Amino acid sequence: MTDQPHAHHATRDPHPAPGPHPAPGPHPALGPESDPGTGPGAGSAPDSRPGSDSASGADSPDYSAVVERALGALDLDTKARLLSGQDMWSLPAVPAIGLRSLVMSDGPIGVRGRLWSAEDPSVALPSPTALAATWDPELARRAGRLLAQEARRKGVHVLLAPTVNLHRSPLGGRHFECYAEDPLLTGMIGAGYVRGVQEGGVGTTVKHFVGNDAETDRFTVDNRIAPRPLRELYLAAFEHIVTHARPWGVMTAYNQVNGTTMTEHHHLVTEVLRGEWGFDGCNVSDWTAARHTVRALRGGLDVAMPGPRTVFGAPLAAAVRAGLLAETEVDAAVRRVLVLAARTGALDGVPPAVAPADVPQGIDGRAVAREVARRAVVLLRNEPPGQAPEEDAAPVLPLDAAALRRVAVIGAAARDARVLGGGSATVFPAQIVSPLAGLRAALPDGVEVAFATGADPRTRVPHARDGFTLSARYLAADGRLLAEHQQFDGRVQALGTLPDGVTRQNLHAVELTGSFTPRTSGTHTLAVAGSGRLRLTLGGTVLFDGEGAGQEGADPFEALLNPAERRIGADLTEGEELPLTLRFVPQSLGLGEGADALTFVLGHSEPQLDGDAEIEEAVRAAAGADVAIVVVATTEEVESEGFDRTDLRLPGRQDELVARVAAANPRTVVVVNSGSPVELPWRDEVPALLLSWFPGQEAGSALADVLLGAHEPGGRLPTTWPARLADAPVTTVTPTDGTLHYTEGPFIGYRAWQHTTTAPAYPFGHGLGYTDWEYECLDTTPDSVRVRLHNAGARAGREVVQIYLAPTGDTSAEPERPARWLVGFATVEAGPGESTETEIPLPARAFEVWSEPDGGWRRIPGTYTVEAGRSSADLRLAAQITAE
Ligand code: BGC
Repeated sequence: MTDQPHAHHATRDPHPAPGPHPAPGPHPALGPESDPGTGPGAGSAPDSRPGSDSASGADSPDYSAVVERALGALDLDTKARLLSGQDMWSLPAVPAIGLRSLVMSDGPIGVRGRLWSAEDPSVALPSPTALAATWDPELARRAGRLLAQEARRKGVHVLLAPTVNLHRSPLGGRHFECYAEDPLLTGMIGAGYVRGVQEGGVGTTVKHFVGNDAETDRFTVDNRIAPRPLRELYLAAFEHIVTHARPWGVMTAYNQVNGTTMTEHHHLVTEVLRGEWGFDGCNVSDWTAARHTVRALRGGLDVAMPGPRTVFGAPLAAAVRAGLLAETEVDAAVRRVLVLAARTGALDGVPPAVAPADVPQGIDGRAVAREVARRAVVLLRNEPPGQAPEEDAAPVLPLDAAALRRVAVIGAAARDARVLGGGSATVFPAQIVSPLAGLRAALPDGVEVAFATGADPRTRVPHARDGFTLSARYLAADGRLLAEHQQFDGRVQALGTLPDGVTRQNLHAVELTGSFTPRTSGTHTLAVAGSGRLRLTLGGTVLFDGEGAGQEGADPFEALLNPAERRIGADLTEGEELPLTLRFVPQSLGLGEGADALTFVLGHSEPQLDGDAEIEEAVRAAAGADVAIVVVATTEEVESEGFDRTDLRLPGRQDELVARVAAANPRTVVVVNSGSPVELPWRDEVPALLLSWFPGQEAGSALADVLLGAHEPGGRLPTTWPARLADAPVTTVTPTDGTLHYTEGPFIGYRAWQHTTTAPAYPFGHGLGYTDWEYECLDTTPDSVRVRLHNAGARAGREVVQIYLAPTGDTSAEPERPARWLVGFATVEAGPGESTETEIPLPARAFEVWSEPDGGWRRIPGTYTVEAGRSSADLRLAAQITAE
């Protein structure tokens, strides 16, 4: 009996099957940055074979001798201390063995560093749904290399990323921070990311292991997941990354799986992750997730974060002395911390996993951010303008800049782009290019750009920025200045680390002080927020003096990051500079007892028209323009960490805005600036519709690249986009009596949509480009699929070739499986009129199911159809194969 499927050849095209086609280099029209690594076939090849990885970051020297020597020099108390954070972000140093303090930082779109504030800016890449929408593990790898460079610049050894939980329900609040609804796509993008970061000599912690697929009651929820979906979906993404990219760390989740909290889950951590998959890295708890000294250590947890008060440290040493744990059990965890230190260069006298000379350097962060952002844009729809377009009329995009005189740019997010998702994924970029600024810069000089807010969905006043010059002064009780920093905006925040010279003991007040020069006359809205006493003075007048409104929300991180605001109206004159001070005396300085934490905010919004007048203004701008570009967005209040969504509607009056603008201008282009699906009820009324996701700091430049046709929008949906929440087959995120049953089993995402009678708005894998592709022929070999395709359009393009496997024949005796599932993909490029070919491996796992109840992967023999296409619903070629 062979373990491989029989090979067949099938074609819908008369062309004979060609031999391997020479891979054309990156086409000039695809942009100068096209990396040779993103050429034909590169999309999947590096990731396709277990153990095929030759990335320098994954293979580290054998550290056992040096680790044993270091371990032998440590006493029990020091060992126990080493397994607990010394503060929010780091482990203690042990100079006696040459061990420096290991520093960790979020993750995943940038490296925030020790400070949770804008003082130490970071490159902000697009969010994970955007990275996954590129369907390009090599691009993820390049993003990872840039992040390693950022980490090294900030003295960070371990990046708290990537997040590889799955898009089980579109209501998941951190959906934007996870890659996809499919475990293979998630695994391949995650593996690329891990490789890239570790090639730069920086560790990763793949998170949150496992089942943190929603936020409601995330600290306690018991997710009941049957063995098949657990193995075939949720663990599969981690398994792929662990076995292919060998991460140096994993972060265990807050939640329980099948009755055991993940920081104590001996079966999943020790038996599966370490035992079956051979994970040899360090297991770090999610922040505050470790709850029990003995159970956590026995379960396989190595490090409890943050500190200094955790269940490890002193309580761990005490547990050993009380005979509850053996010191050898502590040693096992310490060894793994020492290996992590050695790999990341924090153990003196030991070569790090990546020699300094091999660490990639000089990477241009802005260029990477811009490239990922434009490659992530998913063009959902691109039709000629008007309801009944003339035949052969060209689609609206790309815009012909030379033919434009007046462009209307509409939407609050067009001016204040939502570039990243909230919560721990927050970083503070040094600059942001908004869609408005990006388009203005890219359009020829003579083109007039008219901006109108149209509808502002934000329910919180944005952090004060434009027109403000601010610094934060940290003061002792006697008024002595302890520290002073320039501020990027009106949010003063420290989480885990207070500024140098400032301690919990000596800090009394913080003054946010400087000036404000209004850009318009009228009634401006100012807002103050923070848990403590707040006093706002503007131009010598006290505008607010009282207690802040306290903290909102049950999740402590969420409550700290988003204190409730108090608003004040102020009549101000354009151009008149006024001195400003917001003095804050915090109620307490800490997140629980452990970590130092401080947040207060000055908000500001410009004088606003009322809602009707704002929409009218936008309609007027659109009516007089050659094209109307509307940017619609979610807000921090509906899409962030710490809570789930309650619906998929665009907040505020944005739906009404789009419908009105589209009625006023047949050439309306809508850009959706969200991290995850939203309902788009007007989607068939606008000729062009794109997803920008949370596009990172270069949002506007990337958008202009794509709209004006300098580059193709390269993205494909990493998750199915429902027309309405009510249509989505899996939505539940709220536990009942503490338990959330994954009753849908292995059917999530497109696997579940295949069972519904309703079609989604846009299927998994969908995304258009600016050229046309003909799929010419498909060949199968026992372990791969070769696809030849032809660029039939007038310009160079990039295509994501997707391969699905569908069981055929009588499958009634087998466990129920989806109608088809993704088994591979690759990115190809070709110039106009050119053909290209790609070979995509067919992994053995594609033919296997996890057997219940005994466990183990079982190959299901039989006939299968191998399908190649542009999305899960647009399959162009098929061939039968037989698996024995
Ligand atoms: C998040 C993690 C994050 C950690 C540190 C937690 O609340 O779940 O993803 O790495 O905080 O910020």
